[in-house]
Formats: sequence, C-alpha cells, structure tokens
Amino acid sequence: MRSQLERSRLTLFGGLMLALSSCLWPATAEMVEGYLQILLIGDKNNNNINQEVFRTLSFPKLTMITDYLLLFRVSGLDSLSTLFPNLSVIRGRNLFYNYALVIFEMTSLKDIGLYNLRNITRGAIRIEKNPELCYLDSIDWSLIMDAEFNNYIAGNKQSKECSDVCPGIMENSPMCKKTMFNNNYNYRCWNSNHCQKGKPTDTISHVGFEQECADSPASDPIHVDAKCFA
Ligand SMILES: *[C@@H]1O[C@H](CO)[C@@H](O)[C@H](O)[C@H]1NC(C)=O
Ligand SMILES: *[C@@H]1O[C@H](CO)[C@@H](O)[C@H](O)[C@H]1NC(C)=O
Repeated sequence: MRSQLERSRLTLFGGLMLALSSCLWPATAEMVEGYLQILLIGDKNNNNINQEVFRTLSFPKLTMITDYLLLFRVSGLDSLSTLFPNLSVIRGRNLFYNYALVIFEMTSLKDIGLYNLRNITRGAIRIEKNPELCYLDSIDWSLIMDAEFNNYIAGNKQSKECSDVCPGIMENSPMCKKTMFNNNYNYRCWNSNHCQKGKPTDTISHVGFEQECADSPASDPIHVDAKCFA
C-alpha cells in the first residue's frame, strides 16, 4: 500500500496554496488521486513575490494525476518545470469538460515545461490566452496523446514573436529529436533546457494504482482540511 496517496480533489486557492501544499503533498507523494487546480494566485502587483515562491516550490515526486490539471490566472509562474519536474502521466479519468490539461490566462507563463509528461491517457488539452507563452510549436502532442485533434490552442504569444530554441540549436548540435506534427517537421522540446521525450512504452507502470484506489471512497475537501489542520 502506498501510504501517501491523496484521494482528494485539490484546489489550491490563493494564499492557501503553500499551507495546503506542504500538508497535502509530503515530499514523498507520488500521485494526486483526483484533479489538481491551481488558480487565481496573486495579481499583477505581487508578481515578484510569487516569482520568488515559485522558484523554490517543487513537487519532484509527483508523477501522476489521475483526473486533470488545471491552471488559471496564476501570476508570477513562468514555467511548470520546477513545480512538476517529474509529472509523467495525466490519466484524464474525470475531465474538466473535455480536457485533461487546461492552461488558461496564465499571465506570466513562458513555457509549459512539463518535460517529463509522456502520456495524457484520456481527454484533450486547452491552452488559451496566455500572452507570454512560447514553445508551443516545439511540442509534438501526438507523442503524448491519442486524440490530439481535439486540442484547442489559441490566443497565446504569436509564434513569430517567440524565439523558441531547443537544446543544442545555438551550439549547432541539436540534441532533440525531430518529428512531423501539424505539417511541421521540427525539433521537439519543452523549453531551451529540455527535449521532449518519446513515447512512454513500458517505463511507466500505473497498473497498481488503479487497483488500490478503485474501491476507496473519495474524501471531500472538508475532510482533507480537517485531516490537514488537526
Ligand atoms: C524525478 O524522480 C526521480 C526518481 O524518483 C528522481 O531521482 C529525480 O531526482 C526526480 N527529478 C527531479 C527533477 O527532482
Ligand atoms: C498512453 O497510455 C495509454 C495507457 O497506457 C496507452 O493506451 C496510450 O496508447 C498511450 N498514448 C500514447 C500517445 O502514448
């Protein structure tokens, strides 16, 4: 039995984020059983404070989210690479509308940076109205998901204003693989530091989780809070 599973629906809201995160996500938590929403943290005026926080906040053991990941209006977060460096799978068992990954109106986000993400098992993605967001043309979503034609990616930074450079390009020794996606034969990377990895094949095992969690009742947020702050 993995002791650190969180069977809750997590909504990290505003200033509560840090308090909740340290409690709900011990350093050993490997999985969020349920969905994860991070929204409306701060405003433009305290961008700098958030930036400091996000620079140190990391959940390296988190490898899987069983439902969906939603990010909405979190200012000061410029990449998810430090926050979720090991997130590999979003199962999409329950979706947010049809989406397993939603990135919406993230004012500071410059790249997605989920460089270990290798499988969105079910559901599409919606990446919309992120005015600084680049490295969108350098991701081949077909390596990650089967139904990428339902994806909705619009209103982000225009690709001609982005100067996406995958690792090694500047040194004339490209390190990432090239694939064809959307009629675009391109190097594949999440940002200037991380290539996109290939298909997951057999390196990700999540069969065990399913069995363990299927029968357990999902706790509601109030229960989580009580457990947390007791
Ligand atoms: C990702 O997980 C592996 C195995 O648990 C660990 O060795 C590695 O340090 C983690 N990556 C990061 C960036 O923390
Ligand atoms: C994602 O994982 C599922 C279940 O393991 C598999 O059926 C699917 O083909 C994978 N998708 C991709 C694009 O690798």
